[in-house]
Amino acid sequence: MQNRNNLLHPLTVLLGKTNSTTEEQETETSSLNNIPEFTPDVSSTSSFELVDARDTRLGRDSPFDFGKRVLKDDEEVWNHNAWDNVEWGEEQIKAAEEKIQKQYENPVPEFDKNLYNSNPSRYWDIFYKNNRENFFKDRKWLQVEFPSLYEATKPDAGPKTIFEIGCGAGNTFFPILNENENEQLKIVAADFAPRAVELVKESEQFNPKYGHATVWDLANTEGQLPDGIEPHSVDIAVMIFVFSALSPEQWETAMDNLHKIMKPGGQILFRDYGRYDLAQVRFKKNRLLDDNFYVRGDGTRVYFFTEQELREIFTKKYFVEDQIGTDRRLLVNRKRQLKMYRVWLQAVFKVPELEVKENSS
Ligand SMILES: C[S@@+](CC[C@H](N)C(=O)[O-])C[C@H]1O[C@@H](n2cnc3c(N)ncnc32)[C@H](O)[C@@H]1O
Repeated sequence: MQNRNNLLHPLTVLLGKTNSTTEEQETETSSLNNIPEFTPDVSSTSSFELVDARDTRLGRDSPFDFGKRVLKDDEEVWNHNAWDNVEWGEEQIKAAEEKIQKQYENPVPEFDKNLYNSNPSRYWDIFYKNNRENFFKDRKWLQVEFPSLYEATKPDAGPKTIFEIGCGAGNTFFPILNENENEQLKIVAADFAPRAVELVKESEQFNPKYGHATVWDLANTEGQLPDGIEPHSVDIAVMIFVFSALSPEQWETAMDNLHKIMKPGGQILFRDYGRYDLAQVRFKKNRLLDDNFYVRGDGTRVYFFTEQELREIFTKKYFVEDQIGTDRRLLVNRKRQLKMYRVWLQAVFKVPELEVKENSS
């Protein structure tokens, strides 16, 4: 019989009998095989927030440089909390692959799989019900990595529409809104979890003059557009740790929906989990839904991408690659002498300009 100690039954989660946050709970309950619990300074954040809590890049590096604190001598590893651009050797990749291979021995049972996949917004909604307190950190690194976002907030930027997909509690939305000096900016935040949208709307930072928040499913199969967004009207779409919540079967529909709202010449700003990230390799029994696709203890799902996959998904039909980069960082808990290898992907995709038809007069 499978060991289900660390897995909350999908119905338990749906009935709200847990107030788990996503990753912290896993770290507390599972034996981690060298993969540490989060340290106190980040314990109030979920793993997708870890990037913010430790970010040391602000104001130092150009976009897509991913920081410059490079570890040259292994003996120095404990001298700082974080190291950038960490090289992975063959041994390390092999170790990650072995851990992932073990996950196949105990995947999520078929019945539970169907529950998790049939109504993913329910689990996220419960997540926001259980985590109403704003434990997210605002994303100051956005200014560094995606400067176009802030250019759109300048007084003379002209009419611009920014659309954030999977806005959660508004940790990207609010920093942009608060920065805004552009009278012609419209910024729309969408999430398929109604409680997330409520959190955004109820915030004292919410400013309806420029901002709008709405419930919308990026992967809806009816091709519905978000409230407040006209077809082909979005200059900048922001997708931060949202695409990983989709199952691979939903990727194509999501691309179709995205294409319907993007303006020719617009851009998509992307950041999400990369293959072999700490969060992936530490998953234990009964979490594997599909290749590189998992369910967390609270029923929310997560995929871990490679650059090539991302490239194929976005450029197959509609968009053009501008930049794709892998951010490999080593986070260090000096007190406990623990090392945590994080992998994130960051990308910018462009929407082709409309083709000018010759002899169209
Ligand atoms: C990991 S959280 C990230 C939240 C926010 N982008 C941030 O970085 O703080 C993923 C968010 O995406 C939302 N989400 C997941 N799948 C979605 C979908 N198909 N359509 C819209 N939102 C979705 C979830 O409800 C959740 O708020």
